[in-house]
Amino acid sequence: MLPRLPVCLLISLPVLLVQGSSSIKGSAPASPPPTPSPFGDPTWALGLKLYQSLRSDVSSVNTLFSPLLVASSLGALGTGASGTTASEFQDLLGVSSFAKHSSQTRELLSSALNSFVVSNLTSFHLHTSSAVFSKLVPAVSPAFVKDSKAKFRLQHQPLGKGDSKADLELLQGWVKEGLDGLEGAPLEGEIKAGAGALILVNAVHFKGLWEREFSDDSKDSRIFLGKKYTKVMMMHRAGFYRLYEDVANMVQVLEVPLWGGKASLVLLLPFHVEDLARLDKLLTLELLSKWLENANSTSVAVSLPKANITSTVSLQKHLLALGLTDAWDPKVADFSGVSAGGKGVLHLGNVLHWASMELAAHSGKEEADLEEENIEKPRLFYADHPFIILVKDNVTGALLLMGALDHVEGEPLHDEL
Ligand SMILES: *[C@@H]1O[C@H](CO)[C@@H](O)[C@H](O)[C@H]1NC(C)=O
Ligand SMILES: *[C@@H]1O[C@H](CO)[C@@H](O)[C@H](O)[C@H]1NC(C)=O
Ligand SMILES: *[C@@H]1O[C@H](CO)[C@@H](O)[C@H](O)[C@H]1NC(C)=O
Ligand SMILES: *[C@@H]1O[C@H](CO)[C@@H](O)[C@H](O)[C@H]1NC(C)=O
Repeated sequence: MLPRLPVCLLISLPVLLVQGSSSIKGSAPASPPPTPSPFGDPTWALGLKLYQSLRSDVSSVNTLFSPLLVASSLGALGTGASGTTASEFQDLLGVSSFAKHSSQTRELLSSALNSFVVSNLTSFHLHTSSAVFSKLVPAVSPAFVKDSKAKFRLQHQPLGKGDSKADLELLQGWVKEGLDGLEGAPLEGEIKAGAGALILVNAVHFKGLWEREFSDDSKDSRIFLGKKYTKVMMMHRAGFYRLYEDVANMVQVLEVPLWGGKASLVLLLPFHVEDLARLDKLLTLELLSKWLENANSTSVAVSLPKANITSTVSLQKHLLALGLTDAWDPKVADFSGVSAGGKGVLHLGNVLHWASMELAAHSGKEEADLEEENIEKPRLFYADHPFIILVKDNVTGALLLMGALDHVEGEPLHDEL
């Protein structure tokens, strides 16, 4: 069989021509066309800000959340807000910088969410549910419930009269059902929902299916140099992947496509073993865009740990720090579109997020196909130390998941080593 290389060479010729002509017009992006840029997308802007806020807590280990789910659920709730409460939601989603009207941002989020869900079972296995829980709220507007369900897959669920323990049990039961029986990581701290509280909850479980299967040998255990050193299983594959090596910032950027091309994983790995504090602080939309644009098809030998990342977070203090303030205050919050009665009836009680992701070797092909591409002198991408994970939708460009793998569960290595 012919190796893939000649095809690449053939393609690169027209590509050069296109580049040449586009430089005259100065408009078309450099080739090969990367997916839509993080700029102009509320999921990237909000995702990055939330990520950095979550990571500023130095005790956070294995962060994971879905910027798309958070943004779209907040977008839905924002439609039920009025006055300054509504403008805070709009500012948070960057409406003024991305779109002339908040309806444009909401359409964008709604279609990205739809694209995410319909890709289920092609590029990945996805379980997800979102709901707004209401505590002792007399009547929630049927129009709000209908609209937020249709556009943002946001259900409405009333909480009972019980105390905070009962509320948490109810929430956790709902999350488990939404994740198809998977137990989410426990929530730290308690939830206090007074009368009139709205609690926004997202749950997501994601397992990507690679375009090309990785090989995994169950006897091949290596050491992951994370928060604690552990013995883990690694999976490997050599082939052509989009790679960028930022020498100044000492980070490798790798894009691994998923089956069916609907989404891809982007991994950010420091050159050397270190915790992610430096990289977390470095991230900006500009830098991420530059990395994604500069990544080009390179022969790479990729090694990744097999791992499950789970994370449960309360986003309340982080959203507060990002400027969502009135919404939490029972006296000034205005959710008159959610329930009649206007100001002072409803307020936001919490925003909770359960997420889990499995890194495994499978591709989307029915039969395992370990065919190697004909590669020479591959670059090494050896992820035996912490890295950042982004999952982006290839069609809409939305940021589906963002997280950090600081630690992989496994047999601990003894201290003397
Ligand atoms: C994805 O497909 C699985 C299997 O059919 C199903 O259980 C799950 O609910 C689907 N996920 C979504 C988000 O629809
Ligand atoms: C994204 O989709 C385009 C068009 O379907 C496809 O050519 C490209 O290979 C996809 N990219 C990835 C990373 O899968
Ligand atoms: C890919 O990028 C690297 C560094 O950014 C560059 O040296 C190389 O020439 C590029 N290859 C192609 C085919 O554009
Ligand atoms: C991750 O969890 C799944 C079950 O959800 C399990 O089958 C798999 O073995 C786990 N992987 C690792 C590396 O622990």
